[in-house]
Amino acid sequence: MMHLLKSGIVLLLLVTSFNTAAAERWYNQAVVDYGAPLFQQNCAVCHGVNAEGTREWKKLDENGNYPPPPLDGTAHAWHHSIPQLVRSIKEGGVKLGGVMPAFGQKLTNQEVLAVIAYFQSKWPDEVYKVWHDRNMQ
Ligand code: HEC
Repeated sequence: MMHLLKSGIVLLLLVTSFNTAAAERWYNQAVVDYGAPLFQQNCAVCHGVNAEGTREWKKLDENGNYPPPPLDGTAHAWHHSIPQLVRSIKEGGVKLGGVMPAFGQKLTNQEVLAVIAYFQSKWPDEVYKVWHDRNMQ
């Protein structure tokens, strides 16, 4: 009896975890592979090779600027929709009082999207799902 009960619980847990299963990513591995070298060439110097950014990203640096935040799902990037992310990357942060350079002249739309796919590939499934449910439905 106890045995049956236990397997029932296990089954229930399994079913629940299927319901909250990872949201399907909007990109595939080919897009990530295309974005990876672009990220390394253009972004990694500030945001880190694995998009890990600066640990103390909420603290102003000695010049009164915010340091490059992580893009790996641990900071704010996942609050933004794709169009907002594209705009941040193409326009940079200078207009808003920040220091990130603009990439609108340097990267095509397709390249910017691939770079986004690259750093989104670092987001854990739970983070991606919250972002997806907010922005992609
Ligand atoms: C010179 C350093 C530097 C480079 C190079 C750089 N960034 Fe940034 N980035 C920053 C800083 C600093 C911020 C915080 C806002 C600001 O100061 O403009 C930022 C902010 C961002 C944000 C907004 C994050 C959020 O949480 O809202 C995104 C997205 C982003 N960068 C993506 C990129 C991508 C993609 C690249 C490469 C194409 C890149 N950055 C290159 C320094 C940089």
